Amino acid sequence: MTTNADNATHVSVLLEEVLSALMSEENKKIKSPWFLDGTLGLAGHSKTLLERFQALGIDANLCGLDRDPQALSRATTNLEAFSKQCHLFPSDYASFEDIIPQINTDKSNSFKGLFNGVLLDLGVSSLQLDVAERGFSYHQDGPLNMRMDMGSLLQKEAPPHTESAKTFVNRTDFDTLKKVIEEFGEDPQAGRIARAIIDARQTKSIENTKQLADIIYLAYPPKWRATARNHPATRTFQAIRMYINDELGQLSKFLDNILAHTADNGIIAIISFHSLEDRMVKQKFKEWATACLCPPQLPRCVCHHKKEAQILTKKPTLPSKDECLINPRSSSAKLRIVQKLAPQ
Ligand SMILES: C[S@@+](CC[C@H](N)C(=O)[O-])C[C@H]1O[C@@H](n2cnc3c(N)ncnc32)[C@H](O)[C@@H]1O
Repeated sequence: MTTNADNATHVSVLLEEVLSALMSEENKKIKSPWFLDGTLGLAGHSKTLLERFQALGIDANLCGLDRDPQALSRATTNLEAFSKQCHLFPSDYASFEDIIPQINTDKSNSFKGLFNGVLLDLGVSSLQLDVAERGFSYHQDGPLNMRMDMGSLLQKEAPPHTESAKTFVNRTDFDTLKKVIEEFGEDPQAGRIARAIIDARQTKSIENTKQLADIIYLAYPPKWRATARNHPATRTFQAIRMYINDELGQLSKFLDNILAHTADNGIIAIISFHSLEDRMVKQKFKEWATACLCPPQLPRCVCHHKKEAQILTKKPTLPSKDECLINPRSSSAKLRIVQKLAPQ
């Protein structure tokens, strides 16, 4: 399916589960709570959140970020009815601390503890996947780009993460290609795929998604091709996208800083689609929810770490069978939720 950016749609994943977490009893008692949506997309989650609060007579405020200018533009239109409550910025979410001083709030002296609710819905939107020109998808032919910010917003970042997928596949050495496909794509055929890419580009530069998908397809042993559940290019495309957009680096930086900017009793909800992301979220939540991080063999605590949060999802929440049927892209989603504790 090829669409253009103006009419691409996106179905929000685990919508009711996210809303019921962010609309906690504590948050419903606040006169005008603040929310951070770091991956605004088309604002599906955030718009419904603002509507539901409005139905309770509460004007909630939203700080919405997206590094994709097309997504931000669509979100701005979708949130028009709430424009006075919304502060939307074209930014990567890891840089949220640089952005929030631009918000005019009555807490403007200190943004620590500002947010009563925080949402990350990681990965890509259908707006990105279904528009061939964005170069994210092997289903349709387009220029190999895959930069979420389309290459325009990241100038402050140093290479290699400013490069497009085209630069990456045409210039990267064998070891790095193999490592990226192995680590981010978890593809057992990473070595064969990396070799095939290197061989192919010696005769002709790899310019388009279809060209890359065909190279990967032929690199797969025929037996594997016949039995694979997905197209052989699925994992490699995901790996390249994650690498060039520094998706794990973004998440790690965000997790290091977000708790300080979350209000007491505030909720942090994160939906991930990749095992490495989910592991990172799980480990950080566990760290926040643990009183002492000393090795168990130490006779007494020397770390002075404090328990700062409570995990609300012992196991991640997964989409129901019905949701997966209606929206197959939701099937690998995992939602984890944590609540910041008020000091005793
Ligand atoms: C799955 S979509 C979000 C959909 C949204 N929750 C909705 O319901 O419409 C993910 C969005 O996050 C954005 N994104 C991914 N990584 C980002 C990052 N590091 N910083 C800012 N935006 C990011 C993508 O551009 C995409 O628009």
